[in-house]
Amino acid sequence: MAWQKLLQTEYHLPHRVYLFDTTLRDGEQTPGAALKPQDKIRLAEALDQLGVDIIEAGFPRVSKGEMEAIKEIARMGLGSKICVLARCDKGDIDAAIDVGSEWIHVFIATSDIHLKYKLMMSREQVLERAVSMVEYAKSHGFTVHFSAEDATRTDLPFLIKVFQEVEKAGADSLDIPDTVGTAIPHIMKRIVAEVKKAVKIPVAVHCHDDFGLAVANSLAGVEAGAEIVHATINGIGERAGNASLEEIVAALKFLYGLETNIRFEKIYETSRLVEKLTGITVPKNKAVVGDNAFAHESGIHVHGVLGSPLTYEPVMPENFGRRRRIVYGKHSGIHGVEALLREYGFNIEREKIGRVLSLIKEIGDSGGKVSEETVLNIADQVYGSKSPERSKVLGLRIAKADSEYEAFCDISIAGEQVKGGGSGKTAVLASLSAVLDAVRKLADVELLDVKIYSTHDDRHPAEAEVEVLVKDVKAVGRGLDIDPAKAVVSAVTSAVHQILVSQSSIRVS
Ligand code: KIV
Ligand code: ZN
Repeated sequence: MAWQKLLQTEYHLPHRVYLFDTTLRDGEQTPGAALKPQDKIRLAEALDQLGVDIIEAGFPRVSKGEMEAIKEIARMGLGSKICVLARCDKGDIDAAIDVGSEWIHVFIATSDIHLKYKLMMSREQVLERAVSMVEYAKSHGFTVHFSAEDATRTDLPFLIKVFQEVEKAGADSLDIPDTVGTAIPHIMKRIVAEVKKAVKIPVAVHCHDDFGLAVANSLAGVEAGAEIVHATINGIGERAGNASLEEIVAALKFLYGLETNIRFEKIYETSRLVEKLTGITVPKNKAVVGDNAFAHESGIHVHGVLGSPLTYEPVMPENFGRRRRIVYGKHSGIHGVEALLREYGFNIEREKIGRVLSLIKEIGDSGGKVSEETVLNIADQVYGSKSPERSKVLGLRIAKADSEYEAFCDISIAGEQVKGGGSGKTAVLASLSAVLDAVRKLADVELLDVKIYSTHDDRHPAEAEVEVLVKDVKAVGRGLDIDPAKAVVSAVTSAVHQILVSQSSIRVS
């Protein structure tokens, strides 16, 4: 970036930024989210693999299950440091001692609003409590990370006094939470700069997204010298959430040119795991991990990207373990359609492709959605007998049997017709199991990922996206249908077909 050199001269950038991941604590505080102990353990492993420096594994005082999960995480010998949350309260710190983590994150609110309406304490009492609890935690051998809750709404001289006193009491690092997301980047920078002048230990920022500024505020904190950033995967967290880890690390690396320990290629799979285990869906347009983050529809953009992705992508999707996606609709242009038809073995005939494009635009103009499958079906009509062989869902039958659904499907794939059956708790799960049963008659298919978007209205069909693995080859298939069960069957069929036609020698028997 042309302006990156300016950053080094104008700001107090740290050489390396440490990521304090709070997905398992603040992230789990998302209204409606609750992770089972085994899910927390699985996510801790994933966060460690991702390379976060510190995992805030939870708040031991919350429940027995929480306590057991954190104990297990602390015992796993992960590379990331394991931290637990505790109020400035002896009982909380004792619970943290029991779980055996190396780090403790102790906090107490410092803003007058919290003092008056929540803690019912004076500033002197808060200061005294903060100091004594940091000393208590230190005396038990913890690495102590101290947060002044609601720091950005705290009287700045008082905030600085609290930080200086807890530093003297032995705190190893400090955190400035923007608890209700009311800071603006300029102010965050000022607060961090003032705190940095007043203390010697590392400083963190912890930003919430109530005004959509969590990432911008976190980065402003780094510009002022904060060495540690708190964040959550997919930005999950209380109310509007926390700063998104994936957005922060992407900006630090690609915009600021700063180092972190993050393995970027693991970002997408970690995001998907958090989405699956928490049930909190990532919005399509979310930066880095959203479904549309590397998708292009408009003819102008697709033409540019096919020439060089640099035209309309700031960084390549592969950096984050993702792939580019061309989407079809009323904004499509000839180049995108041509690229798809070429990939599926159609002869490139300009006049026919032009007809396919007009039909796509007609669907788009009527408010309809167009999948790859739709484009290929249109092309089949336009090309007639000159159409290349493709996969097709010939039939899907679903029946409700007691508490389960049963599904039977009949598909044509790589020139073969196969049938499969399966059952599941929903029609979609039964259909997924049926189509897997069918395709496994042709190859060793492993299902890596399934995503279904369904709006339950007849204007917007359900979209299914699956990723499969056959031997070492991966493919993504998509299906679009008003019935999500059919969408998932055509997505699996299409993904497996892509692999089978490119590797006709991988038959099981
Ligand atoms: O948002 C917040 O203030 C917190 C504290 C516990 C640090 O999550
Ligand atoms: Zn928070």
